[in-house]
Amino acid sequence: MVLTSEHVKYFKDLLGGNSAVIDGLSRDATEDLEAFNSDWMRKYKGKTKLALKPESTEEVSKVLKYCNDKMLAVVPQGGNSGLVGGSVPVYDEIVINLSRMNKIRSFDEVSGILVVDAGVILEVADNFLAEKNHIFPLDLGAKGSCQIGGNIATNAGGLRLLRYGSLHGNVLGIEAVLPDGTIMDDLSKLRKNNTGYDIKQLFIGGEGTIGIVTGVSVLCPQRSKAVNVAFFGLESYENVQMAYREAKGQLSEILSAFELMDGHSQNMLHAVSQKKRPLEGQHPFYCLVETSGSNIDHDGEKLEAFLEHVMGEEIVSDGVLAQDESQKLSLWSWREGITECLGHWGGVYKYDLSIPLPELYSLVEDTRERLTSAGLIGESDDYPVVGVVGYGHMGDSNLHLNIATRRFDKEVERKLEPFVYEWIAKRNGSISAEHGLGLAKKAFIGYSRSHDMIRLMRQIKNLYDPVSQFKCQFASGAANDKSAEW
Ligand code: FAD
Ligand code: MLT
Ligand code: ZN
Repeated sequence: MVLTSEHVKYFKDLLGGNSAVIDGLSRDATEDLEAFNSDWMRKYKGKTKLALKPESTEEVSKVLKYCNDKMLAVVPQGGNSGLVGGSVPVYDEIVINLSRMNKIRSFDEVSGILVVDAGVILEVADNFLAEKNHIFPLDLGAKGSCQIGGNIATNAGGLRLLRYGSLHGNVLGIEAVLPDGTIMDDLSKLRKNNTGYDIKQLFIGGEGTIGIVTGVSVLCPQRSKAVNVAFFGLESYENVQMAYREAKGQLSEILSAFELMDGHSQNMLHAVSQKKRPLEGQHPFYCLVETSGSNIDHDGEKLEAFLEHVMGEEIVSDGVLAQDESQKLSLWSWREGITECLGHWGGVYKYDLSIPLPELYSLVEDTRERLTSAGLIGESDDYPVVGVVGYGHMGDSNLHLNIATRRFDKEVERKLEPFVYEWIAKRNGSISAEHGLGLAKKAFIGYSRSHDMIRLMRQIKNLYDPVSQFKCQFASGAANDKSAEW
């Protein structure tokens, strides 16, 4: 259905003033709609003429019911920091942006259960929890802009999944609005509730395909009193694996992050930031290890003993232990800063993959070799590719393979796809470990999921959203017009 001024009038009457309805139908609102129409990578362009910012669950419900009745396609949007183009209205869907639903509803200091609106920014929630000596069980580089609803919808993994586990375990309840406007109140605060299907799980990682998450209850752990960070350089991926094994053995319950960065990623970050490197010499691989425990001296000693051991055994070549808060942040910046710096030259081809650990880094080498022998990598502007880098969440077997380019280039893309996906399928890995399918990976789901699994997903999608009001990552064939092409 085509959007009309009558529809816009309904939304204005419902949501009030202009700040809640960004209307590009009755006037030229290209600039105002720009932020809703483009993604963080500036890779995907949307064409919406209308963005709505409801302030309550009831408003979301009325908006969705109306859209359902009128067959108007919608796309939920949180902080718009997603890396697969899932939040962009690539056709002309109405954007439903959750940023005005930003209230912390309650926090129980005994149980650690936090209840929030879906539009609360992750960092805002974590800062609130810090004052109560608790921590949000998810942390990621986009924490300053991503929303908890977006985190739930993507089932974001982030930097400390190895310690706090996945949102599938930490989220206790979800309030969501279904496409027909039904408010699904499953905002339970119970850790145990074996009374039938656990339907909220469908919304965790559901990428906004069956409804809009409006409220979330999350179990938040106690904030650790002692956090230590070490950064070290290694000569081979074999050594990285040995170091990880040792870290698990020696740091066990206090290990809260084990992140991998290859030398290429650090060289590129250095080239962009010009910051002083943490270590004197250069190495093919780097790891960042974080511990979180309750006794600063005891944990520090444990980490120092671990470093001494891995250096003594020549597993690690050089290392540094942060001495204060600012050094911890500085070491983390050599990991968290990679994503942003890679966009410096133009575009980035991003692959977020689960791969069995022994082979995790081989994909980076194989891809680099493939692009080099095709003559696509070089230092001058004649070459489209600037560099091929690997980094990621070693503790979760999650590699980020990134190809930084001077421009998006069809020849580069043809060399990468389906090569990367075939490589992953051969090893029974996943083509999307933590970012989701979105628009970027939608066509490739078959490399990670069987025909039967995709059929089951499509059945669930059709059950919740029979008129295809929302995009579908598993659709083939159509119920209604444009959104069904998703
Ligand atoms: P958006 O980008 O707005 O939306 C993402 C998807 O969720 C879309 O499909 C959208 O339609 C849907 N959606 C959003 N809100 C709702 C809602 N309320 N209800 C239903 N559907 C909704 N991801 C990781 O997993 N780990 C990382 O370590 C990580 N680091 C990052 C670092 C940087 C610098 C950046 C830019 C991104 C990073 N990401 C990471 C990706 C991204 O931040 C996450 O996917 C995040 O969870 C998206 O949240 P958002 O609010 O920005 O969602
Ligand atoms: C990360 O781990 O840094 C994020 O997932 C973002 C990225 O893939 O670059
Ligand atoms: Zn990641």
